[in-house]
Amino acid sequence: MNAAESRLFTPFTIKNFTLKNRIGVAPMTRTSGNTDSIPRQDVLDFLVRRARNGAGMVYTEALVTDYESAQGYPRQARITTQKQIDAWGKVTDAIRQEGAMSVLQMFHCGRMAYEGVNPANRSIAPSAIAPQQDNPLTGAPYPLPEAMSQFDIEHVINGFVETARGAVAAGFDAIEIHGAHGYLISQFLSAYTNSRNDGYGGSTEGRYRFAHEVIQAVRKVVPADRLLFFRISNWGIADMAVSLFADAAEWQKVIRLLSAEPIDALSVSTYNFQEKAFGTDQTMSELTREITDMPLFICGKIYDRKTAEESLASADIALFAKSILLNPDLVEDLRTGKELPCYKSEEANIAYTDTPLP
Ligand SMILES: Cc1cc2nc3c(=O)[nH]c(=O)nc-3n(C[C@H](O)[C@H](O)[C@H](O)COP(=O)(O)O)c2cc1C
Repeated sequence: MNAAESRLFTPFTIKNFTLKNRIGVAPMTRTSGNTDSIPRQDVLDFLVRRARNGAGMVYTEALVTDYESAQGYPRQARITTQKQIDAWGKVTDAIRQEGAMSVLQMFHCGRMAYEGVNPANRSIAPSAIAPQQDNPLTGAPYPLPEAMSQFDIEHVINGFVETARGAVAAGFDAIEIHGAHGYLISQFLSAYTNSRNDGYGGSTEGRYRFAHEVIQAVRKVVPADRLLFFRISNWGIADMAVSLFADAAEWQKVIRLLSAEPIDALSVSTYNFQEKAFGTDQTMSELTREITDMPLFICGKIYDRKTAEESLASADIALFAKSILLNPDLVEDLRTGKELPCYKSEEANIAYTDTPLP
């Protein structure tokens, strides 16, 4: 590869922030929090270490947006108490000192909740439709969610707003709204999980309305000198084989709607960035790029210099999850072009154990 083909170690500017390279640590849930919803110290230290190891951008795990119904996994993190804000504030300071951008991701799990995981023990979703598959955490079917009332919708949006306020107070450079992977916002976006016949369902625009309202409400509390991102995918954690959007036209319609929002970047999540999408000869990032010039992050089986450079042909930042979870030297290995194996998915399960990662 000659220097002209290499983008990975070139800077990238998003508004008032310049990243030193195109390497991002993807959001990874670690389920390590105590009753105070603060992750274990070694989990927080891991994020700082990845910044020290050279990543230009470091995401947190998905933080839960309220205490009633947002949580979908045990021991998830939150950022709405001063104690939580202080804990994360130390992390953002340290990441900044290492010269990287800190990004907080926030989510509501919607119908992916299970009995007892939320203090108020509710499972809510756009419609009363449960996943087809059982919950691997409980070995039992997911509970049938309650279809959200207008009160629920407003309350849940407020949870996103409060969490964003916590993130701003803790000094995060950017905040991401998790609209991917079959969680609540994704459930609204997809006809697979949204059969509402009010203003939040029906057409693509109707199903998009909830995402729009979340973005608009959150933007109001994110100052102009901080960034707001949105993550989207065509696949969900439950019933994984289902295409959440009908076809490439519907995907592009949603991307067009998103590109009109006051957001600063789009993160497209795939399982394999090279795969062609919706029966077309284009990948998810190519289909997205065709619609918008907004800064674009791509993820999915990017594990060495070659795949990283390829992913940047139609995106701006390469996000690494499993490969950077398992290898503290990944950035240096990418720099030297070391031959690296692709991770084995089951190796990543170590993320959910008490074993501190290198
Ligand atoms: C342990 C683990 C936890 C994850 N948690 C999240 C999460 O909290 N939010 C999210 O958007 N994606 C999450 N993901 C998905 C990753 O961000 C990424 O999209 C996916 O692993 C594909 O990238 P990869 O091939 O580099 O692993 C998680 C992945 C792993 C392995």
